[in-house]
Amino acid sequence: MLKSSVALIGFMGTGKTTVGRLLVKKLEGEYQFIEMDQLIEEMAGKPIPEIFSQDGEEVFRDHEIKACQKVSTLKKVVISCGGGAVLNKKNVENLKKNSTIILLESTIETILERILKDGVQLRPVIDKEDPIKEVKKLFYLRNPQYKSVTDIIIDTENKDESVIVDEIIQKLKIEKD
Ligand code: S3P
Repeated sequence: MLKSSVALIGFMGTGKTTVGRLLVKKLEGEYQFIEMDQLIEEMAGKPIPEIFSQDGEEVFRDHEIKACQKVSTLKKVVISCGGGAVLNKKNVENLKKNSTIILLESTIETILERILKDGVQLRPVIDKEDPIKEVKKLFYLRNPQYKSVTDIIIDTENKDESVIVDEIIQKLKIEKD
């Protein structure tokens, strides 16, 4: 069954934001793009690294729950979810109300390359003594959890963003029929 909104999930650095924006563009104004991390920053009045360093991860996760609650009521939106959002059952329940959940998958090598290029300070969950070790640990821990809540899986490896978006649109159409 096709739901009215789309939630893009997956590990940090899998391209959720870029793909989400392009998806909205290709759907030609029918949908609105929502970046969950941006919503959280607006709610907290500070950037994510500051929420983590000043208030702690628990406070960040509370904001994330509220953000999920808020977006779950919206129809015709494409939501780019933070990499940890669907690890909480409550968030999954909320997102599933109106959204088809799409998992973007990339290899650990691609993820590491992107994350290290962006700078680990942007991503506090891996901004530890050994960020590479942290990424690997979380990647293998989270992957089964992502898979267990998703409706559609998209392999993004070695694919142009527009190809990924076309694949998403095609798979959404199949779900609808
Ligand atoms: C997080 C991922 C980040 C952001 C926060 C926590 C995570 O979002 O929500 O730093 O726990 O994986 P992106 O996946 O968009 O980087």
